Amino acid sequence: MAIDVSMYKNAIILDHPLLKHKITQIRDKNTKVNQFRLLVKEIAILEGYEALRHLPTYDIEIETPVEKTVQPVVHRKNLCFVPILRAGLGMADGMAELVPGATSGHIGLYRDETTHEPVEYYCKLPENIGDMDVYLIDPMLATGGSAIDAVKMLKKHGAKKITFICIIAAPEGVKAFCELNPDIPLYIGALDRCLNENAYICPGLGDCGDRTFGTIVK
Ligand code: PRP
Ligand code: URA
Repeated sequence: MAIDVSMYKNAIILDHPLLKHKITQIRDKNTKVNQFRLLVKEIAILEGYEALRHLPTYDIEIETPVEKTVQPVVHRKNLCFVPILRAGLGMADGMAELVPGATSGHIGLYRDETTHEPVEYYCKLPENIGDMDVYLIDPMLATGGSAIDAVKMLKKHGAKKITFICIIAAPEGVKAFCELNPDIPLYIGALDRCLNENAYICPGLGDCGDRTFGTIVK
């Protein structure tokens, strides 16, 4: 039976037509590496625009060609983007374009091919992460194992305010993530049907890390 995720109020499924259009393009197996990477960056910008809607601002004084005025700007220093390596790096390019000057952390995880469990291999986060608004980014939420582990790592390092942004999610991953993290907003570009026997998202886009970096073995 299909998993219903409508009860998870922290799961926000975005529905902008441009986002849908670009996600269709990255799903297409004929989309080549360069184009794929550019699209992932553009998708991150569109999703980031929504996810950063609640960013705090403060006022500064500037001068327009007409007069002096006090106007809002965002608090860039309190913002930390954390891509899950490798595939998250493609999205990180887009987030950095949206807010140049934001801090970045990195978490390295890969899924074991047999167990589909995440394996940690890298973690570098800012020391003051506890004071920051942290945006964890990874294009794929499949079983949810990687995102759940990454949140544990962030919390272990003191992160308190976390948001997760992904491009394509399986209902299985949404359920697993939201049941453990009901307090973490989860932004989703597209909610797919299910996982297959290899824990790949259907219809999905295949292996996002391989498609981003051209490492697919044919
Ligand atoms: C992909 C993806 C996620 C993970 C999602 O990474 O970028 O991190 O799989 O799967 P899960 O929800 O079942 O944990 P992958 O393990 O392929 O590593 P890579 O990005 O280095 O290729
Ligand atoms: N990781 C991917 O890159 N794709 C999937 O479909 C599942 C996990």
